[in-house]
Amino acid sequence: AKKLKEAVLSVSPPLQEQKDGAGLDFNTENSTVSITIVGASGDLAKKKIFPALFALYYEGCLPEHFSIFGYARSKMTDAELRVMVSRTLTCRIDKRENCDEKMEQFLQRCFYHSGQYDSQEHFRDLDRKLKEHEAGRVSNRLFYLSIPPNIFVDAVKCASVSASAANGWTRVIVEKPFGRDSESSAALTKSLKQYLDEDQIFRIDHYLGKELVENLSVLRFSNLIFEPLWSRQYIRNVQFIFSENFGTEGRGGYFDNYGIVRDIMQNHLLQILALFAMETPVSLDAEDIRNEKVKVLRSMRTLTLDDIVIGQYKGDTRGGVTYPGYIDDNTVPKDSLTPTFAAAALFIDNPRWDGVPFLMKAGKALHKRGAEIRVQFRHVPGNLYKKTFGTDLDQATNELVIRVQPDEAIYLKINNKVPGLGMRLDRSNLNLLYAARYSKEIPDAYERLLLDAIEGERRLFIRSDELDAAWSLFTPVLKEIEEKKVTPEYYPYGSRGPVIAHYLAARHKVRWG
Ligand code: NDP
Ligand code: BG6
Repeated sequence: AKKLKEAVLSVSPPLQEQKDGAGLDFNTENSTVSITIVGASGDLAKKKIFPALFALYYEGCLPEHFSIFGYARSKMTDAELRVMVSRTLTCRIDKRENCDEKMEQFLQRCFYHSGQYDSQEHFRDLDRKLKEHEAGRVSNRLFYLSIPPNIFVDAVKCASVSASAANGWTRVIVEKPFGRDSESSAALTKSLKQYLDEDQIFRIDHYLGKELVENLSVLRFSNLIFEPLWSRQYIRNVQFIFSENFGTEGRGGYFDNYGIVRDIMQNHLLQILALFAMETPVSLDAEDIRNEKVKVLRSMRTLTLDDIVIGQYKGDTRGGVTYPGYIDDNTVPKDSLTPTFAAAALFIDNPRWDGVPFLMKAGKALHKRGAEIRVQFRHVPGNLYKKTFGTDLDQATNELVIRVQPDEAIYLKINNKVPGLGMRLDRSNLNLLYAARYSKEIPDAYERLLLDAIEGERRLFIRSDELDAAWSLFTPVLKEIEEKKVTPEYYPYGSRGPVIAHYLAARHKVRWG
């Protein structure tokens, strides 16, 4: 409530100018926010959405009058929903004494309505229940589509026709995947826009809600020392690396239709790249930031088969434990060529980044879990200490690492004199390790994004033109990979991934960090 109040005080243009009612004061006796999680019986709702809403409630960030409705086909009573939800709630933020009490209060504000996703009548029944809870106040309604993408449009149609807010705003959070290529994504956008304005659609990419991704702009634009270095003049290459130490476990059915490029690269890594490489926005306003992101995405070269390599994990036995291969998943066809690993080289054809390779690497079932950005700087011209490094000058270049997860950190690799007589240098880190610097636990990405959606803050959500630009970079190469049935290089579960990724990097004179 504190944060909402501040936001409301600082915005509030006249209501008639607000397309979706942004800026309404939720904290008056007079207004309420109803959050409906469509697909509430599913994995994401249990794992992320309900826990994030509880964390917001616990922190006092939800408005005074709110209710949360689960909606799905499964039959459940309110009490059963509460039992289901309570299993995944934790007092993550801190273990203050009143956590159990808060949890109980939160659960009492959670309700359930069973219905079909394509039934206007069932959504009308939901509308009736929502109205009872809104008790005549100004109603603001947020729908979170946590369902498979083939039913997005049905659900949006029914929600907008039968259950949109009568006198406040209606917003819809849409989960990825937003299509599987340019064509299907454009078709999805067109269908959604039959029922919603662009302003009402909040396309979520949860990587944008991660603390260190949000911090990228702060690092660049509020520190004098970084922005002047942020160009081809000083930066040799940039790497965006995502790895998971587990396979598709349980999501093979979904994954096989998408693959790692669509699942991670085209959205999570590309979004980070856009934030990393964009020009300085006019302001921190959502539209100004998104304008710059679109500009940089449009300056990028469309990928070809030469720019990408793919892999797929196979089963492995280590230390007496057998790890399954991708195609051992029952929901995956035995002859599937779907990549579970990919590495790609991207280029931005603008004056700032001309010729700088932006490398991406993403894989499942690798040796570790992590996500990081690595910025490798150029050699020091005429380096006085050249001899000290021998022939491998690459070892002497500076590197800035932004570790998004786990163990969030920002560190800069510098050359330093080893203390003592004589002159020996080594590489040391100037290290900002979040756990050591900040005692408070970092909120989950979904908390930030849900709060932003409630507040009408669109900065961290994807606009439709960003989405178009992102798809047009990857669609041709994805089509070619599929049409030519390119065979992935197989790598053992738990390994460092296929060797071919090193060849790709070497072609661009890059060594993975
Ligand atoms: P689920 O497969 O668990 O589906 C959610 C709910 O949708 C189910 O509980 C089920 O509810 C209903 N449902 C499932 N399949 C169908 C179907 N074929 N037809 C109609 N209804 C169906 O999905 P998740 O919760 O894993 O994900 C939800 C959305 O979020 C998806 O778009 C997914 O791509 C995206 N996502 C998920 C992530 C995750 O970690 N799980 C991460 C990032 C994005 P019921 O039968 O009760 O109606
Ligand atoms: C999702 C992908 O978007 O992100 C999953 O669909 C992946 O395949 C997940 O596991 C990773 O998210 P996080 O936040 O756990 O790194």
